[in-house]
Amino acid sequence: MNVLVTGGAGYIGSHTVVELLNAGYGVVVVDDLSNAKADVIDRIETITGKRPAFYEMDCKDKDGLRKVFSEHKIDAIIHFAAFKAVGESVRKPLEYYRNNLDSAMTMLEVMEEFGCKKFVFSSSATVYGPNNPHPYKEDMKAIESSSPYGWTKVMIERILTDYVTAHPDFCAVLLRYFNPIGSHDSGLLGDDPNGIPNNLMPYIARVAAGQLEKLTIFGGDYPTPDGTCQRDYLHVVDLAVGHLRALEYAKDHEGVEAVNLGTGNGVSVLELVHAFEKANNMKLPYVIGPRRDGDLPAFWADAEKAKKLFGWEATHTVEDMCRSAWEFAKKSAGK
Ligand code: UD1
Repeated sequence: MNVLVTGGAGYIGSHTVVELLNAGYGVVVVDDLSNAKADVIDRIETITGKRPAFYEMDCKDKDGLRKVFSEHKIDAIIHFAAFKAVGESVRKPLEYYRNNLDSAMTMLEVMEEFGCKKFVFSSSATVYGPNNPHPYKEDMKAIESSSPYGWTKVMIERILTDYVTAHPDFCAVLLRYFNPIGSHDSGLLGDDPNGIPNNLMPYIARVAAGQLEKLTIFGGDYPTPDGTCQRDYLHVVDLAVGHLRALEYAKDHEGVEAVNLGTGNGVSVLELVHAFEKANNMKLPYVIGPRRDGDLPAFWADAEKAKKLFGWEATHTVEDMCRSAWEFAKKSAGK
């Protein structure tokens, strides 16, 4: 079975490509390298001993995608390629809507031309919006978001749902990720954003490497046990394996399914900081600062549906996540 992975050189995409190759799938990567580095493909080859076909290409390039589909028999798509910075999406909404919606729709059009009917979509827990109680369950009705980035996820979920209504023999799996962190055991792949990281773990890793002076914890007065926000952190390799299970499900099914990929546990910012310190035997300088606009106090997944539908559950501990995140950051920083 050949799988086209868009955004396959990115953080979650690259880990998923490794799991696919190790499981014997043929893999074709399309990535425009706007937020990834070309040497990720070499690293994937070092880890797996196999090199995926690679096209440096924007997913909005319809003729380009047609060429990919002509050169490979594509049986399924895993669509990661998207802009993903929440704050930037507030400043540049048009760019986010144009890029994220256009690439998903272009992909669907080309899939239709070539008769490809399996679509695994990289969605996010952000689609539960600000008003649902946690743990979040897939059948919650209010699907909305608080940023243009998040709305692109909501809208693409809607587009795929409507597409399946019109084409009942199509299968779309909407994977709603919680907070993926950590790295592949090899230390060769990881979350390596350009510029100053927005997300917590890459920020912690740069502080640990001495590249940033200290962590600012956004808010210490939330209504949570220690006053800092709680999230459902999951190991990126568990998340990658979740995509394989989704693909196996899609092979034998039609219709649309939304599925959470999370551990089902809430961990606070302070707990994560202390877990990182303990796992890596170091001290992290931090201060408690003001809240960040748009952050919710606490949320985590109801993880039952993934277990029932795919037989998937997260297996790595928070300690595993912290250790592997540091292994990767150390190598990247040349330590
Ligand atoms: C964010 C996005 C989410 C997106 C996900 C992955 C928002 C509101 N949500 O999730 O839609 O899918 O990233 O890109 O932006 N924190 C600090 N100090 C820091 C950085 C973060 O204290 O320097 C805290 C945050 O307040 C939060 C937690 O760490 O409580 C996790 O933050 P982050 O990693 O940015 O993820 P989310 O905000 O949960």
